[in-house]
Amino acid sequence: MATTENLAAAGMELISFSVNGRAVEVMAPGARRLSCVLRDDLGLTGTKVGCNAGDCGACTILLNGDPVCACLTAAGQVAGCEITTVEGLAGRSPLYGRLQQSFLAHGAAQCGACTPGMLVSATALLEKNPFPNESEVMDAIGGVLCRCTGYRKIISAIVEAKANVVGESSPAAGSAVGARLVRLDGQKKVEGTEIFGADETPAGTLGVRVIRCPHHRARFQFGDLDAFVADHPGVVMILMAKDVPGIDCYGVIPRYADQPVFAHDEARFRGEGVAAVVGETDALEALDLAEFPVRWDELPPLKTIQEALAAHAPQIHAHRENNVLVRGRVVCGDAERALVEADFVVEGEYETGFVEHAYIEPEAGFARRVGDSIEIQACTQSPYMDRDDIAKILGIAPEKVRIIPTAVGGGFGAKLDLSVQPFVALAAWKLGRPVLMVYSRTESMVATTKRHPARMRLRAGATREGKLTALDFAADFNTGAYSSWGPTVAGRVPVHASGPYRVPNYRALTRAVHTNIVPAGAFRGFGVPQAAIAQEQLYDELADRVGMDRLEFRILNALDDDSPTVTGQVLGEGVGIRACFEALRPKWQAARAEAASFNASAAGALRRGVGVAGMWYGCGNTSLPNPSTVRVGLKRDGRIALHQGAVDIGQGSNTIVTQICADALTAPVAQFDLVSGDTSISPDCGKTSASRQTFVTGKAAHMAGEKLRGEILKLAGACDCAAIAFDEGRVTIIENGERKTLALANLPLDAQGYVITCEATFDPPTSPLDENGQGNPYAVFGFGAHMAEIEVDVELGTVRVLKVTAAHDVGRAINPTLIEGQIEGGVAQGLGMALMEEFFPGKGENLHDYLIPTAGDIPPVESILIEAPSSIGPFGAKGIGEQAVIPTAPAILNAIHDAIGVRIHKVPVTPDRVRAAILAQGVSAKLGGGARG
Ligand code: FES
Ligand code: FES
Repeated sequence: MATTENLAAAGMELISFSVNGRAVEVMAPGARRLSCVLRDDLGLTGTKVGCNAGDCGACTILLNGDPVCACLTAAGQVAGCEITTVEGLAGRSPLYGRLQQSFLAHGAAQCGACTPGMLVSATALLEKNPFPNESEVMDAIGGVLCRCTGYRKIISAIVEAKANVVGESSPAAGSAVGARLVRLDGQKKVEGTEIFGADETPAGTLGVRVIRCPHHRARFQFGDLDAFVADHPGVVMILMAKDVPGIDCYGVIPRYADQPVFAHDEARFRGEGVAAVVGETDALEALDLAEFPVRWDELPPLKTIQEALAAHAPQIHAHRENNVLVRGRVVCGDAERALVEADFVVEGEYETGFVEHAYIEPEAGFARRVGDSIEIQACTQSPYMDRDDIAKILGIAPEKVRIIPTAVGGGFGAKLDLSVQPFVALAAWKLGRPVLMVYSRTESMVATTKRHPARMRLRAGATREGKLTALDFAADFNTGAYSSWGPTVAGRVPVHASGPYRVPNYRALTRAVHTNIVPAGAFRGFGVPQAAIAQEQLYDELADRVGMDRLEFRILNALDDDSPTVTGQVLGEGVGIRACFEALRPKWQAARAEAASFNASAAGALRRGVGVAGMWYGCGNTSLPNPSTVRVGLKRDGRIALHQGAVDIGQGSNTIVTQICADALTAPVAQFDLVSGDTSISPDCGKTSASRQTFVTGKAAHMAGEKLRGEILKLAGACDCAAIAFDEGRVTIIENGERKTLALANLPLDAQGYVITCEATFDPPTSPLDENGQGNPYAVFGFGAHMAEIEVDVELGTVRVLKVTAAHDVGRAINPTLIEGQIEGGVAQGLGMALMEEFFPGKGENLHDYLIPTAGDIPPVESILIEAPSSIGPFGAKGIGEQAVIPTAPAILNAIHDAIGVRIHKVPVTPDRVRAAILAQGVSAKLGGGARG
């Protein structure tokens, strides 16, 4: 039995403090992180852990009223102190209710992973300063990272917290579409009660730690594993490739699946798992993985595209010649000839680096075996894809795998791929005990997918009147060691590399190239942001050569409803790109004049510039089926169950899909009960990616809602034009002034347990592309244009973005607040990509060295919503998630050129690169560099 003496000998101490107004005593080592004590010992999981290093601020709590990082605070330090976590803010501050309401009304919480840290920091500020201005708010939240929102809505929510802002929560039946409805899953996010991947641990749970290769490429041999287990009490089992009972090969695109759960003999990238240690969580925490008996024989890696394509380079996968995973091709007209005949031709080479997703919630989840089935509760963007791959790995039927998605603390594409799932599933399957795994920040950065680095070469031609005649585009993408979404990137980019313009002669060729680097996968835009960086800069150069205004050049060449795209597709409707550019015109003219006037009077090192860029993005899979199925059920109490399996990763699909379904059914949103994407209870809505959930799942929800309305009317013997009202236990149908009541309690239940169940499936109509990439790859495209106003310090090479104006054609703005949130978040990620974000495998695998924008980096963002509806989408709607990030970086790069006359061909445009480019072009003196100080 534990005595005070032997606990003390084990380094434990009794620590007394108060949490959320309650006195507590915990027995813990004094050095234990306060975040662990709060979450694991006291069950206060509202405090999130994003890095355990003081970099993300997700764990911010109040210590005697001051915000501090709980992950950097030792439990022994808080003896006698007063701690407040997000769960205790309501009891602490009378202001807090208003702050929560303001967050909800502004849409300041998207995924919600940063929200507790933001709310705690904001409360500390408001207690001292109830009327803060923007810059005081930015200072207060400067240590808390948000990867979703772009901070602007958070800042507004805090500034306006005193104003008692309350968002719209119950629009009348039939008027949900277009309403700025507060997100339906928002309350839990602002209470800190949302359950993310790491927030639930069943009793008796074991943990897993994965042994990962420390080299970019290495053969390996295990030593005496039995002795290792025997020497480490609490370690229960070692897992490795031979323990995989099914097919040890998974991947998001079954045809290209190539990734093993554990490497066999040779690890192909730094961070690849070779074995896993399963055991009691305390024992695993104490484990020094360097003691694990494995010998590494480092091999020369292929790290770059050039190395991988070199003659005689070793093949990373024997069946993929020259390390080329896949090629993409779209050709129309004769680009070569058109370039010869063009009045003006420009050319350029552009390069982009790896970009890390850097969501605030690292991958996490647990598995448990239930008889001959396995259940996995984890953060994921793609429950059904996870289900099918886990079934393959375990060698069981997909129906024996249940995926229960938790809330997702940001995904942006990387949580489409498996992460913790195979490890916890395998361990739980073998041991019959629940097994939890939570990636550390470093593990998340080392082992999960990245944005593809690209090398792009282009030539473009135009007539002297400014009409684009040709684009010749070639790009190679570093796809890393395994396929992941490489085929999607290589296939999507050639369709989009023209930009949203009429280009009659076009050749776009791409390759996804394997290297010994962590796999590159899906990241907001699937390669299109990289292509836009090249193509939109080149079009600026072409406009300059022609002698045209850069915006007018784009307007002249913009696609319209009747012009064929580079795949020969004529959309016929819903092409809103010209409207986006035209919406920018007055702002463009004013901003250009302002920048010119600033530069004319500038005596120091600052120069201002304005840049513009356009984009288009096909919603859904490229020429492949990607159906969604939605089920709605009328319950006996008159409420409506909405089974929609689209995982809401913060973008708002829980709310938007409900708004659509509600209006199709003509029921109030408040009548709906959301049923999650648990694979055992909701049909497949596909993956949350490719801007498809509003469009595809939204359309399925629209169809299901209409069907249910039809069935209710049929049951009542009423015509289509009748009105329906839902009440407690009954539905009233009003037809020509007459009322009929369906008393639901008396009606039988169907096999699904509802009075009436309706299901609808929508798969966007597309056609396969031929050998030249001709066909209809997407049913619907979203369009957009961004204008960036920036300031360059030519002495320091720093770039400050002053404002971004973003015009997006969203077809129909189902929920303008949520759309603005996507745009602002996309702008922030685009700014990061343009100016600061670059991941170097093997270096800086943490949020201290890998910089993402903070609140202080983000300028005001003005969103302009254009509605050029698509008759295919629900109420005309298109997607916005991927679109929002695409034009920001090229607009900033074009603005930099506008400011200083220097074109920088490699992103991110860090200060050293700006300075080097200035010096290389010898323009420093001309710009006045060196005049300051
Ligand atoms: S978890 Fe504490 S700062 Fe990131
Ligand atoms: S809402 Fe801030 S990280 Fe997702």
